[in-house]
Amino acid sequence: MKWKNEYSLGIEEIDNQHKGLIDKFSQVEEIVATKGGWMKIHYKVVELGQVARRHFDFEEGLMRLFGIPNVEEHKKGHEYFFTKVAEIESHSLLGSAESELLQFLYEWLRDHILVADRRDYAELVLGLAHVVKAEVGAAAS
Ligand SMILES: [Fe+2]
Ligand SMILES: [Fe+2]
Repeated sequence: MKWKNEYSLGIEEIDNQHKGLIDKFSQVEEIVATKGGWMKIHYKVVELGQVARRHFDFEEGLMRLFGIPNVEEHKKGHEYFFTKVAEIESHSLLGSAESELLQFLYEWLRDHILVADRRDYAELVLGLAHVVKAEVGAAAS
């Protein structure tokens, strides 16, 4: 998975964090492509989980800071990520779970960035930022 401009939410810090998630995921893809084995995949997925946890905490904090109401609903989408990854990892005990893992991570990341984050907070945060800018501008003039 590669970063595309269409993934940008217009909030630089969030875009950078999403780039970090995509970067970790592409490292998982690379290990699968080079048949690196499940242990290497597992450790990279653990790293991805750590990056994801920091990102989710940041986002949920941002939403609370701006008083965005559906933070608990958004948080459920974040927790689903961990639940589903754990479920897929348990499938690896029974057989190959690599394609299931890649498909889930790709779809979750794409939908999270393009749909959930945009819908649940990005437009609101950007709208509020414009109001603040206008007010600061008016106060200064
Ligand atoms: Fe996000
Ligand atoms: Fe999110």
